[in-house]
Amino acid sequence: MLLSRRQVLKYTVCGGALCALSYLPFPVHAAGSKTLVLFFSHSGNTRKLASMIHDRVGGDMVELKTVNAYTQDYDTLTKLAKKEQQTNARPALATELPNLGEYGTVFLGYPNWWGTMPMALFTLLDNYDFSGKTIIPFCTHGGSRLGRSVDDIKKLCPRAKVLKGFSAFGNRVDGVGNDVDAWLHGLGIATVK
Ligand SMILES: Cc1cc2nc3c(=O)[nH]c(=O)nc-3n(C[C@H](O)[C@H](O)[C@H](O)COP(=O)(O)O)c2cc1C
Repeated sequence: MLLSRRQVLKYTVCGGALCALSYLPFPVHAAGSKTLVLFFSHSGNTRKLASMIHDRVGGDMVELKTVNAYTQDYDTLTKLAKKEQQTNARPALATELPNLGEYGTVFLGYPNWWGTMPMALFTLLDNYDFSGKTIIPFCTHGGSRLGRSVDDIKKLCPRAKVLKGFSAFGNRVDGVGNDVDAWLHGLGIATVK
């Protein structure tokens, strides 16, 4: 096939651009194509579960921190958390989030505090736009499972698609690998391991 000079020029420019893209030092992602595992954890149980999920689904993982760190004293913490819930508080977040526009799927993790998410999660969902994203909740708890949290997420993010969540007893997180696999499989989520 004979190519005109114009065609040769066109293919050279396009081919060069494609080659250049494949050598970029960072991956190029279409907007909304990435997965984010975003979580808050006070005593580490939800952090463990988040890591298990991240190991399986890949993507990025970000831990949410508040400006005022929560006390390690359990009684003081439960009283403070109760008060924050009763006053509908929005604790300030210290974590700077990556550009959420890059993510289509967000695994959202938290401990169950007084029947729902800690109020820091309310700050997050109030302040960032999750419209059009798929949110997949997961939580650790002492017996109340996901509680009211999924309803609260749906209220705060009416334009997000919220999939079936996963919950695990906080003190049994280490043994839930197979349950996490089954949950992800049930959701039709591809895993990397
Ligand atoms: C302030 C506070 C409130 C809690 N409220 C509940 C609750 O309502 N229902 C429940 O099952 N567990 C409750 N728990 C237990 C935690 O959900 C559980 O220990 C969880 O695994 C902690 O996660 P983390 O280690 O990621 O912080 C509460 C714990 C705290 C500190």
